[in-house]
Amino acid sequence: MSITPPVPHARYPLAIVGAGALGLHFAARLAARGPVAVLARDAATAARLRAGVRVGDARFHVDALALDELPAEPPAADWVIVLVKAADTEAAARAALRLRPRGVLSLQNGLLEDRLRVVCGAVPCGQGLTTAGAWRDASGVTPVSTGETLLPPGFEAVATLLDAAGLPARVTPDIAAARLAKLLANVAINPLAAIFRVRNGELLAPPYRAWLDALVREAWPVLRAEGLALDEAAAHAHVQAVARATAANRASMLQDVEAGRRTEIDAITGALLVLAARHVQPVPTHAAVQQMVRVLDEARAASRRTGDGGAG
Ligand SMILES: NC(=O)c1ccc[n+]([C@@H]2O[C@H](COP(=O)([O-])OP(=O)(O)OC[C@H]3O[C@@H](n4cnc5c(N)ncnc54)[C@H](OP(=O)(O)O)[C@@H]3O)[C@@H](O)[C@H]2O)c1
Repeated sequence: MSITPPVPHARYPLAIVGAGALGLHFAARLAARGPVAVLARDAATAARLRAGVRVGDARFHVDALALDELPAEPPAADWVIVLVKAADTEAAARAALRLRPRGVLSLQNGLLEDRLRVVCGAVPCGQGLTTAGAWRDASGVTPVSTGETLLPPGFEAVATLLDAAGLPARVTPDIAAARLAKLLANVAINPLAAIFRVRNGELLAPPYRAWLDALVREAWPVLRAEGLALDEAAAHAHVQAVARATAANRASMLQDVEAGRRTEIDAITGALLVLAARHVQPVPTHAAVQQMVRVLDEARAASRRTGDGGAG
């Protein structure tokens, strides 16, 4: 890991939009192997990142480019990974295109490929997924796992770069089904963890288990109609396995609520509700948890407006 601020390049093999938990976890690993640019929102953020930020046990001097200060001819990047929260997808994709990439890849949660396509136009884009994990607080970024990253066909070069950096990655032709399986786990675990403020593993036991089971029971037929090849028993087993494997983790939606950040409820549960409407499937429990998490989001926004800092 470098201990002096990085020297900017004219062309990068890879750039990342989003200097958050996962973006910096990935960037730190990639930077140990070769140049990687991180697109930061503004000059102040870029300067702070270039001065160094804690990622794990090391200080990482990020090769950060400020979006509000990009020159007319900014550096180029062969590939750009989008790692912002769902609500910022379009802005991040527009930023990615300024680097004239061969392709733009989202590794965000939710179903965002259509929204990416609208912005990217003729530039190839796609959405993969990752089971890597990281969280951030005022002191820096704490990587939790390198996980596994699955990419759509066309992004073989990105898989090679990630893999070489110790972030296991591969291209799969079944990326659509893999995204649906991840969505199943996300719609079941994330909102409940945020509403009840519990770690993932606690959802496997009463009193939360009945809610977990209800969400899987409702989501499964919708996702199956979209192409998820799991029967109901396998759907329950999949979600329970994810909750067990991540038992000690605080889900990202819980972290967002606790940190006073806007959640991704509309990109996760909202995506399921859109599919449910398409297949005329009732999902009342999902609609209810979406409303509950929106209340938490609105309480956060209101406390920011009044400056009272919220209920902690
Ligand atoms: N963290 C994980 O373990 C994990 C695992 C799997 C998937 N994911 C998914 O990965 C995505 C990112 O998650 P995260 O946890 O890394 O989020 P995060 O920590 O909130 O980071 C997002 C970063 O993107 C920045 N950003 C937002 N809009 C931008 C823009 N237009 N240009 C440049 N930067 C922008 C944010 O800056 P501000 O802070 O200034 O808004 C923030 O630094 C989400 O979709 C999440 O669901 C995360």
